[in-house]
Amino acid sequence: MTKGKLIDSLGRIHNNLRISVTDRCNIRCFYCMPDENIQFKPRNEILTFEEIVRFARVAAQQGVNKLRLTGGEPLVRAGLPKLIRQLATIPDIDDIALTTNGILLAEHVDALKRAGLRRLNISLDGLKEETFERIARRKGLDRVLQGIFAAKAAGFERTRLNAIAIRGITESEIVPLGEFARQHGLELRFIEFMPLDAEGNWSDDQVLSGEDIRQTLQEAFGPLVPTVRPDPSQPAMDYRFADGVGTIGFINPVTQPFCSDCNRLRITAEGNIRNCLFSIAEWDARKIMRCGGSDDDLVRLLHECIAAKKSGHGIDSPDFVKPERAMYQIGG
Ligand code: 5AD
Ligand code: SF4
Repeated sequence: MTKGKLIDSLGRIHNNLRISVTDRCNIRCFYCMPDENIQFKPRNEILTFEEIVRFARVAAQQGVNKLRLTGGEPLVRAGLPKLIRQLATIPDIDDIALTTNGILLAEHVDALKRAGLRRLNISLDGLKEETFERIARRKGLDRVLQGIFAAKAAGFERTRLNAIAIRGITESEIVPLGEFARQHGLELRFIEFMPLDAEGNWSDDQVLSGEDIRQTLQEAFGPLVPTVRPDPSQPAMDYRFADGVGTIGFINPVTQPFCSDCNRLRITAEGNIRNCLFSIAEWDARKIMRCGGSDDDLVRLLHECIAAKKSGHGIDSPDFVKPERAMYQIGG
């Protein structure tokens, strides 16, 4: 297999692979999952660890050097540290991160650290149990907070909190979240609500924009100072608080799309490659791996997928088609 790069027709180089390890989750955030009657993929359709590692190794030969594990909730998949240990041995992978809802984090954090995990993103949309239950439709805030403190205690660096902002629900959480992040030395990122909810209830008036949040924070904490972006493909716009304590970022996929700098590709838990969260098409890597296909076949599939990448998601275009898959079926 020869080395290559995953460059699309607009010159975007894809070095960032997001791997969904399961479509299951232990809570039911309305922006991602249905509340009931969920058809999870049967176990035999989910990629095995061996298949994930094989795919990641091939992707690494094509220039991928950053991996992020997502779900569903990745920690509901048994043996995740074992997978991380295997992924960490792939040459050219510089960074392995995990996005988690934090519920199971306290019990797994030491094993994750030992396995070679470098960074954690933990979802935290608010600090009130009432907000948590309104969004997650389950209990669990206390466990998430325990998970966050356990991550700090285990010595994870640059642990980041991701907050989905929803108009009508999380306005009153913005300033307390800012305070919490400052107090505990955590990075905080607000993410705009995207039309990837399973129940199809998204509407643009529920999007609390990054700019509105920034205004709210400035009223409470004083001016936010933009920081230089070390990596232009990172979607967040980062700021420092004027007193130097803490950093805060905004990911504004709806009001300020960053598609022109996108360097991400994804593989779903059942092994479909996607070039965008919003793409309608998928490329079936599992079939190749289970039907005796070669690594070169996987390379061709990867290049085919990247070559078909569109310039942007077009959420605000009149002919925007919401993808059939919801967030939990793609991997955030
Ligand atoms: N819009 C924006 N972010 C979302 N996430 C899940 N669903 C959505 C959505 N509709 C986020 C989660 C988590 C990551 C996996 O994706 O909050 O941080
Ligand atoms: Fe679970 Fe994450 Fe989806 Fe919430 S956003 S339901 S925590 S997978």
